[in-house]
Amino acid sequence: MEKTSKLNKFKLFDTIVIAGLCLLFSVTGAAQPAKGGKKISSDLFGLFFEDINYSADGGLYAELVQNRSFEYNPTERTEWNPFSYWEYIAPGFSYGRISVETSAPVHPANKHYVVLDVEFIGNYPQFKGEAGVGIKNSGFDGMVIRSGEKYNFSLFARQLSNTPMTLLVSLQNRKGEVLAKSTISTSSNDWQKYTATLTATASNDTASLVILAKTSGQLAMDVISLFPEKTFKNRPNGMRADLAQMLADVKPRFIRFPGGCLVHGDGLGNMYRWKNTIGPVQERKEQRNIWGYHQSAGLGYFEFFQFCEDIGAKPLPVLPAAVSCQNSGGTWQIGGTGQRALPMAEMPEYIQEVLDLIEWANGPATSIWGAKRAEAGHPAPFNLQYVGIGNEDKMTPEFEERFSMISKAVKEKHPEITIVGTAGPFHSGEDFDKGWKIANDLKIPVVDEHYYTDPKWFIDNQHRYDSYKRNAGEVYLGEYASWGNKLRNAIAEAAYMTSLERNGDVVRMASYAPLLAKKNFTQWKTDMIFFDNTVICPTPNYYVQKMFSANQGDYYFDKVIAKDEKDANLAASCVQDSKTGDIILKLVNYNESAKPVKVDLSRFGKIAAEAEQTVLAGSPDAENTFENTRIVVPASSVVKIGKTFDYSAPAMSLTVIRLKRNNM
Ligand code: AHR
Repeated sequence: MEKTSKLNKFKLFDTIVIAGLCLLFSVTGAAQPAKGGKKISSDLFGLFFEDINYSADGGLYAELVQNRSFEYNPTERTEWNPFSYWEYIAPGFSYGRISVETSAPVHPANKHYVVLDVEFIGNYPQFKGEAGVGIKNSGFDGMVIRSGEKYNFSLFARQLSNTPMTLLVSLQNRKGEVLAKSTISTSSNDWQKYTATLTATASNDTASLVILAKTSGQLAMDVISLFPEKTFKNRPNGMRADLAQMLADVKPRFIRFPGGCLVHGDGLGNMYRWKNTIGPVQERKEQRNIWGYHQSAGLGYFEFFQFCEDIGAKPLPVLPAAVSCQNSGGTWQIGGTGQRALPMAEMPEYIQEVLDLIEWANGPATSIWGAKRAEAGHPAPFNLQYVGIGNEDKMTPEFEERFSMISKAVKEKHPEITIVGTAGPFHSGEDFDKGWKIANDLKIPVVDEHYYTDPKWFIDNQHRYDSYKRNAGEVYLGEYASWGNKLRNAIAEAAYMTSLERNGDVVRMASYAPLLAKKNFTQWKTDMIFFDNTVICPTPNYYVQKMFSANQGDYYFDKVIAKDEKDANLAASCVQDSKTGDIILKLVNYNESAKPVKVDLSRFGKIAAEAEQTVLAGSPDAENTFENTRIVVPASSVVKIGKTFDYSAPAMSLTVIRLKRNNM
């Protein structure tokens, strides 16, 4: 009797536990991982955004006006000045003048503004158009306007004469035909923001913004801005929706930003200082971009963090290690000896700047920096987990000293933050070895490696991480690419990515580089997504990244796929995503003929009879072009599969098969 009741008690206990676990799994959405898998990083594949190739202004940042704050200058490009991309106009035999001034700016960080001095508005009956005096901006190679869409115009203005001024704001095509218009009347002798909504009545790819004073007087103007109302997720000061969606489709687990070399900068005065990029846009500090153009900082830290949150990616901001790029001043031509270090006297303030970022991202809205985040519209913390310090810096004693000061301070004040260190610009060599040694001596948990090389290197080095120590820092492969955007490049990268999954217990994260490149404005030849104002041209490399990233797992299984082990051109991996329980196979064939592989799924119990299969295949030299962006695209289908099956991997291909488990 007693025995039975004990048994019943246990049964009851078991039932409660099992019911509890089921509830837990259904609440958290987690399924039980299959037995025998190796735990791997759940942050393995992400994106690296650098403001290179016009990726930000003129690219992902949806602002349509170029040089909106009159801050362009000849140190960026010899031919540039505060009037660049602006044109003075005085239609209808009107006259006046413009000048650039600095004496009473809208904000000290934003020094230059334009003064429009309108003397006479033509009123001749012979002139049939709109007379006035004003300025015109042609954007980044013209503005793309779509019929029926709304555009948000704004400017800061300050009357310098006593009477209010009337401004006719319009969008015009190259013939001067009006596509949208609105009127603004100024009302203050102090800087004030004015806004208008322009609704387009026709479409045009090369439109200009025209601001025409219709009354005489003197007016100071600055931060003249035009955004499509439809930005990504309709965020104000937002991102170009189509480009941002391409990034969201990758389902990256993290985004590293804002660079690259952009971070450590061309000399100390050009380092990327995050505090200059937050707050109202008129208060942000614009600066020369190391890649030879201009950074408005409109796409700043707040926008990066918001974007990460919007697409479910962890933010990975990278801060300079208080040294500038070793190639500063173009010294890459003589061996990259241009690194400059912040004077020691400035280090306490700089370290505080790094700590302040963590407070800005994660601190309560009542903290000094958390309050600034809240003011920007995000009272809740951003849950920052990673902070990168340094970007492939030259491993000098100056670097080492500063890197160790910064990382020690972060560890001490924020042990919850995972610091990402840096190991030089190559896959091996002096900086690489020193970078790893410094990081391991300081017990830095993750170290950023960079390498750009030929496809063969990626094929030949698939065992690189097999021998990495499991008791030292983990790897972030922050930048890699195989010098080319043909299918063969992408497939070589895919083969290598299976080795990253296999080594996902030591490789924590990986991201291809660079990400975006605007047609005719590129500084780096091999990129992931090319675009112009109207067309987006994803490369085969983009599809490989997307197929891996959208199909990551957190457990790795070996011996599921049998292939010719002597053939390095054949690669495969099997992971499980424990959230969905799905088993994901990746099969890569870098050969120029189809190759057989055998799949054995019996260890996974019951598997659904149908699976989703996506194949990227084609001729090795195939690549997408602006004329035909769909030469190399993946094809998806539903296929029937058995517990064991043979698969013929097409020549030069990546196949991803996603299987549902039936026995959960
Ligand atoms: O990705 C382009 C550049 O390559 C990055 O700015 C730099 O980190 C690397 O050298």
